[in-house]
Amino acid sequence: MGTLPGVSIGTRELGMNAGPCPPPEESSVSLSDMGQPTVLVVEDETESRQMIVKSLEEAGFAAAEAPTAADALSRLDGYAYDALVVAVQLPDGDGLDLLDSALSRYPDMRCVVTTGFGSIDHAVRALKRGAVDFLIKPFQLIQLVQILKTALSERRLRSENAELRARLNEKFRFGGLIGNSPSMKRLITTLELVSPMNSTVLIQGETGTGKELVARTIHHNSPRRDQPFVAFNAAAIPEGLAEAELFGHVKGAFTGAISSRIGRFEAADKGTLFIDEVSSMSLSLQAKLLRALQEREVERIGTSKPMKINARVIAATNDDLQAMVREGKFREDLYYRLNVVRVVLPPLRERREDIPLLAQHFVQESCASNGLPPKILSQGALRLLMNYDWPGNIRHLQNAIEHGVTMSGDSREILPEALPDELHSPTGLTALTLPPTPDEGINFTSTMTQVERELILRYLAKAKGNKRQAARLLNLSRTTLIDKLNRLGVTDTFSAA
Ligand SMILES: Nc1ncnc2c1ncn2[C@@H]1O[C@H](COP(=O)(O)OP(=O)(O)OP(=O)(O)O)[C@@H](O)[C@H]1O
Ligand SMILES: [Mg+2]
Repeated sequence: MGTLPGVSIGTRELGMNAGPCPPPEESSVSLSDMGQPTVLVVEDETESRQMIVKSLEEAGFAAAEAPTAADALSRLDGYAYDALVVAVQLPDGDGLDLLDSALSRYPDMRCVVTTGFGSIDHAVRALKRGAVDFLIKPFQLIQLVQILKTALSERRLRSENAELRARLNEKFRFGGLIGNSPSMKRLITTLELVSPMNSTVLIQGETGTGKELVARTIHHNSPRRDQPFVAFNAAAIPEGLAEAELFGHVKGAFTGAISSRIGRFEAADKGTLFIDEVSSMSLSLQAKLLRALQEREVERIGTSKPMKINARVIAATNDDLQAMVREGKFREDLYYRLNVVRVVLPPLRERREDIPLLAQHFVQESCASNGLPPKILSQGALRLLMNYDWPGNIRHLQNAIEHGVTMSGDSREILPEALPDELHSPTGLTALTLPPTPDEGINFTSTMTQVERELILRYLAKAKGNKRQAARLLNLSRTTLIDKLNRLGVTDTFSAA
């Protein structure tokens, strides 16, 4: 067995579990949730790393390994380990930075830092930055096991909430926007470039992905920040009133116009006009908006006196405007006018690595706004959050956290049980009851066809027959949905939209 560089073997026995460790991605979710704690071991020296992993596995942990900081970060993006064992010196970075990054996402994670002889100052810094303990190489593996067992058996609240908040503030946010995924980083870079300009911005994204927040963030980071930010939701205002709302009217311009009124365009002069759900505008209102954008002037209804208006326009939609242009439902010229800079907000399920940061943020926010002492999400709760598909995106996550904060009562820790039921069902579908399973068996293919048909019909009903919307709810492309409808022989009582 011998002594490996940097690691000396304690009282453990070799030979029982000498095979390769199971891929943690495949086994660790269920293992950990059944009580087997998961540990990520970050150490570049292969033999040492494997020794650590082996002894942890023999002690009952499910261990994953990463030889570099980059590898560790990508593993942390995908999974909320219970504990982290990290070497200070890594070939591609500083283990203490990795510690920071892990703890800002997972404040409940128990971290142990290992460091070479003579770097006691590293160890002290590690403790200050939130590690539960440190080990100076060479160390006894049994020591590491004991430290981890003790740390994981203590259900405690890290006291450094303020410190955590500070970390969140400085590192992973731009205004109110939080995120650390590559797509969020790209978004923030775009926003930094676009905000100071006057260019029109088109924001596209599913419901709850942060379109309005992005629009406000652009405004607050622009030279217009002290001027008004005026929102106009084209879907919320009846078509007949939308024009008057947007452009204003003079007294007597139409029945009911008992006084003059300024429109949202005028109200947004020198500031920003946010046109939400722009795809809901009628074609005639689209023509008027186009004119206002081209001429930079508006006319109140009932006058023919144009007024120069300097409002920056930001538009948002959760529809596919390009498809609407093809279908003749959205003016192509307006599309190009709006689409000077396009910002696409990816759904949360495509940037799961942002979930821990967002979740911590919403926990802090919810506790503060309810006057509660700070709470913390357990790693088990985080794993549930990271496994879910979030059809309502960030707003949905925010609501689930609010539920968790409420249901955790006096406990300072939010455990998986406190989270909404829908998160506990692996498919995220709570209402789905399986078809009967008679002893004589079933015809699998036709049963699955029935299930498919039922789900599609239910979502078409929810979407009031609108195929585009139903496809979105089912996470299918519209053409796939139409193919399925044809295949299932569902006759076309639904709108072609
Ligand atoms: N990146 C983010 N960081 C922090 N909070 C966010 C982020 N994105 C969205 N939120 C929050 O999520 C909630 C929903 O965001 P918002 O209202 O901007 O979404 P939306 O895309 O306009 O949704 P809808 O299409 O339903 O109108 C808000 O409370 C917002 O503050
Ligand atoms: Mg919105």
